[in-house]
Amino acid sequence: MPDTKFDPSGAIFDLKQFGEFGDVNPSITDSSTYTFLAAQTMLDTFQGESEGCFLYSRHWNPSNKYLSDAMAALEGTEAGWVTSSGMGAITTSLLQLCNAGDHIITSVTTYGGTFAFLKNYLPKFNIEVTFVNIADLEGIEKAIRPNTRLIYTETLTNPLLQVSDIPRLAAISKKHGIKLVVDNTFVPLIISPARLGADITVYSMTKFINGKNDCVAGAICSDAEFINAISNVNDGTAMLLGPVLDPLRSSSILKNLHTLHIRMKKHSENALYLASRLEQDGLKIKYPGLASHPDHELMKQLMHPDFGFGGMMAIDFGTAQHANEVMEKMQSAGVGYLAVSLGYFKTLFSNPGKSTSSEVPVEIQREMGLSEGLIRFSVGLDHDIERTYSRIKSCL
Ligand SMILES: Cc1ncc(COP(=O)(O)O)c(C=O)c1O
Repeated sequence: MPDTKFDPSGAIFDLKQFGEFGDVNPSITDSSTYTFLAAQTMLDTFQGESEGCFLYSRHWNPSNKYLSDAMAALEGTEAGWVTSSGMGAITTSLLQLCNAGDHIITSVTTYGGTFAFLKNYLPKFNIEVTFVNIADLEGIEKAIRPNTRLIYTETLTNPLLQVSDIPRLAAISKKHGIKLVVDNTFVPLIISPARLGADITVYSMTKFINGKNDCVAGAICSDAEFINAISNVNDGTAMLLGPVLDPLRSSSILKNLHTLHIRMKKHSENALYLASRLEQDGLKIKYPGLASHPDHELMKQLMHPDFGFGGMMAIDFGTAQHANEVMEKMQSAGVGYLAVSLGYFKTLFSNPGKSTSSEVPVEIQREMGLSEGLIRFSVGLDHDIERTYSRIKSCL
């Protein structure tokens, strides 16, 4: 159940990170390598035993350390690591935890790129994957085998907006000595997976965390042991596969992180307004803030109420043709952009079956209940959401 004492935005607010001349924003590290006065210190740094020293920017660099520490504060974890994309965070975590011959249990509804990695890429390493309905806790427990290493899910799944019951999934994974890895991209601040029992939380920071759609980035938050393991110079997946984030980007994302609490509240307020009005008008809406959403009560139990139910909603228009017509009209009417991705200050909409989940074969899309006419909305920060509602209405 949510840790009501945990205040993720307060934890970010309280960070004291200064630049080398007392700059209120930490200095940006514009170097790939670092010099040492003593050769021994270099050796100690290689072995991870020299606090405050940096060796080479693929391993660690000061700008990425600031952002990693801020992400760890946001999640309430011991440590963090930032990556050059959300996929970099996901693939690094899974490849670190699994060896050839291991087995993963995953929600069948995940971001299409994650689905493709699990379904098409991991077989190269003889890693088996079982796709489950993440709400079927009994089925998940039955699917666990001696070689199962982890359960993977998204807090609020992409694109069906199913809520994962993280405390119960954590209880199952702990009972069987396996890890729970959770992608929290859709609901930062709203749900804190690590505080609910997840072992590793991953993010595409490309989305709400950064909020500007000006870069691609990711993060991994977990205990210090895991972060040390992925960055180990001898066998760490992050160190050896090299998905390092550019320090200039790290520094700009860090500044955007400090407005996340205001943005999430507004995204949520606007999405709830649109979802409620459009549902009253008879449209088929998926939004966890509506009483009609099957996981509404679960979401209320898991969330920090201050930040609302999030900015993601979906409307089923039945056919892809109808969905396309509505999206084109909405773009012309100034509702937002027909574009993939999410967490932007403008509303973005796309048809997942034909875009971000097109990696999922059509039969599986049908099985999981993904309608070909679904439009996924990432609701923006519009000041006058009533005006946006009227614009949407004019397109229906
Ligand atoms: C839920 C989720 N996780 C991960 C990703 C991948 O992130 P990135 O594009 O930053 O690699 C996405 C991208 O859309 C996503 O929606």
